[in-house]
Amino acid sequence: MSQTTTHQVSDFSFMDPQVMSDPYEFYETLQQQQPVYQMPETGMFMVTRYESVRQVLTNPDIFSNDTSLAADKSLQGDIAAQYQAILESRGWGHIQTLQRTDPPEHSRYRKLLDRVFTASRVKELGPAVDDISHELIDGFSSAGSCEFVEQYAMPFPGIVIAEQLGLDRSNIATFKSWGDAMLAIATKPMDADEMAATAEIELEAQHFLAGVFEDRRANPQSDLISALVHAHGDDMEPLNMHELQNLMHQLITGGFETTQSAITHAMWLLVRQPELQDALFAEPDKIKKFVEESLRWESPVQGLFRVTRRDVELDGTMIPAGSFVIARYAAANRDAEKFVCPHKFDLERKNAGAHLAFGSGPHFCVGAMLARRELITAITHLTQRLKNIRLAQPLPDPVHQFSLAFYPIKAMELSFEQR
Ligand code: HEM
Repeated sequence: MSQTTTHQVSDFSFMDPQVMSDPYEFYETLQQQQPVYQMPETGMFMVTRYESVRQVLTNPDIFSNDTSLAADKSLQGDIAAQYQAILESRGWGHIQTLQRTDPPEHSRYRKLLDRVFTASRVKELGPAVDDISHELIDGFSSAGSCEFVEQYAMPFPGIVIAEQLGLDRSNIATFKSWGDAMLAIATKPMDADEMAATAEIELEAQHFLAGVFEDRRANPQSDLISALVHAHGDDMEPLNMHELQNLMHQLITGGFETTQSAITHAMWLLVRQPELQDALFAEPDKIKKFVEESLRWESPVQGLFRVTRRDVELDGTMIPAGSFVIARYAAANRDAEKFVCPHKFDLERKNAGAHLAFGSGPHFCVGAMLARRELITAITHLTQRLKNIRLAQPLPDPVHQFSLAFYPIKAMELSFEQR
């Protein structure tokens, strides 16, 4: 058990960008005083204790992923409806697939993706993943400095997922801007102009992808888009255009922001605790543990949404039917009831792998194996090839950009020497 905090819940607000960027004292205060916390600013219920977050994630019959059940209570309200109307009029409105469905409907989509993201496929991808990482490091290693996010943390997982999907790697910056636009509507408050501009970017993505679907329908290749457009048989109806668009939405957003953020946070940790750079260089077999503990310590997905199908009591708080709930993975991962000295980064922690950074239950991250492979590759290559890595410029204050779900660091200027 950690010590009792001297703070009060009312000392904090998640709408304060400083708190959002460094939420750990607030999480601890909530765990001790109000483990299920109704955010006064949004009305959403945030769940912060490890066991309770697991309960939310593993009971889809009570905590549904279908957020359309309470569309009127979503972050954007009317703005979300206008966004949807723009997509429907000139593209494809959002429908509920995979992450936004519950079992048994969820299983149809999940089976399809599980067939593609298998252990053997990730293993097969290994050499290509290594090459992409080395090529990117070749691009800046002799310069002695780089902007780490733009030159490595974003393009590395971005190129891997683009090539998985069968898209051209030269368009990586465009894909990233599509991913950012696709995530924006669910994660930060927007005004009408910003919403309209964001919808235009998503429309551009949809029309590009529709062209690729048509192409792969006629000329199948060995990529994921081909697998998706030709998926049918067994118990599966072919996916229609709305479903294909929605699945791509999830793969592009899942493939980019999360892994980019995980790599950036792992690097930030190496910069803040520089002795780890030499330790991991000397003992690369510790990198797997380092990756798990860094996912626990600063989880790239801080929290995601559910909607209650009925009234439910959790940690002494009554959550009415039809409420938005945020399962706060990042708070659970710092729960003193589960992790001893939770705020300490501990390379030797025995149960680091019990973190919930990839979720739990039916929606457990479909890309977790791939993401772990990318993270281990990234940290291995960076610590083997570079040393004395440090910040060339201080990070902004607050460090993170505002997001209710993610933990984005936009840029990180580094300097280093080659080993
Ligand atoms: C470090 C990197 C990553 C983190 C931290 C992460 C985190 C998560 C989390 C927390 C969930 C659970 C969602 C829920 O509870 O509803 C999830 C689901 C998902 N992730 Fe990841 N993810 C990562 C990488 C990836 C990658 C590389 C891909 C794609 C290639 C991906 C695709 C998905 C998809 C499609 C789902 C939805 C699965 C479902 O609903 O059945 N993720 N991820």
